[in-house]
Amino acid sequence: MMIAGPSQSIPELQTFWDKSRRRVEAELDRRLSAEGPESARLFAAMRHAVLAGGKRLRPILAIAAFESLNGHDEAIDSVAAALEMLHTYSLVHDDLPCMDDDDQRRGRPTVHVAFDEATAVLAGDALHALAFEILARSAPPEVIVIVAQAVGPTRMVGGQMADLAAEGQVPTEELVRRIHERKTGALIVASVTAGALLAGAGPGVVRLLESYAHPLGLAFQIVDDVLELTRDAGQLGKPVGSDLKHAKVTYPAAVGMDAARRKAGDLVHQAKQALQDYPGDAMTLQALADFIIDRDR
Ligand code: IPE
Ligand code: IPE
Ligand code: MG
Ligand code: MG
Repeated sequence: MMIAGPSQSIPELQTFWDKSRRRVEAELDRRLSAEGPESARLFAAMRHAVLAGGKRLRPILAIAAFESLNGHDEAIDSVAAALEMLHTYSLVHDDLPCMDDDDQRRGRPTVHVAFDEATAVLAGDALHALAFEILARSAPPEVIVIVAQAVGPTRMVGGQMADLAAEGQVPTEELVRRIHERKTGALIVASVTAGALLAGAGPGVVRLLESYAHPLGLAFQIVDDVLELTRDAGQLGKPVGSDLKHAKVTYPAAVGMDAARRKAGDLVHQAKQALQDYPGDAMTLQALADFIIDRDR
């Protein structure tokens, strides 16, 4: 399938994106090979989920932050692949019948549909474990801690729990913001900071990048909410109407479609402003912020 990247209006970003995506996908392919017939079905399910048409945003953000600081550590490809495995595991579980109950993802049947429910649970578990094995073998402890916290009980998984608990509740902006920052924003922030730390960034630069990535992560999920109401399943590679079916608390439900779009625009502006005194090369990071809002999938 056609893999969406940045809009054609930012050609330099498209080149960076394509190059980085090829690197990450080669690494993922290499890391996801069954060692024998015993684990063949599990690896087939993991590959089904991972080696599909994902945008690879989290690895792209990590590589962009890394390269913006002129990083040289070759562990970046491993860390980028681990981030994508963690994100993909969260999608496999998010789609399960006991969660969002969706039958399509990345233009394919979801893992529990293509295989079965138990295999989907275990493929997610296996991707989670494999990601941390890769990180433990390649990244410094501070990076592993940042990533572990981002996907853990107070952030990504906590956000998923809150997202489920909020189904059918009155969607206030505050409630939705906290869910979005946790379920989606946290891993986006960690991807940027992990890339920067691998490039040797000190605490000041990491803080500055957090002020960039935090509004970006929230904007990304707001746009996800908006796209689900404005695009079709073929374009998105996943079902539309899932949020409505489950009475999810979303940004458009909380504040209306126009205000949700404006909010995403304001957040992207805020993210770009945060890079004003950035000591590295901010060009790709700036272009990525524009992509977050311009994307159509
Ligand atoms: C979808 O993420 C789920 C969210 C956290 C919003 P992406 O839109 O990055 O999905 P892929 O990786 O491109 O499939
Ligand atoms: C997914 O959020 C967040 C995680 C998987 C951590 P959503 O449920 O809103 O995303 P989609 O619409 O299924 O991609
Ligand atoms: Mg969900
Ligand atoms: Mg979902």
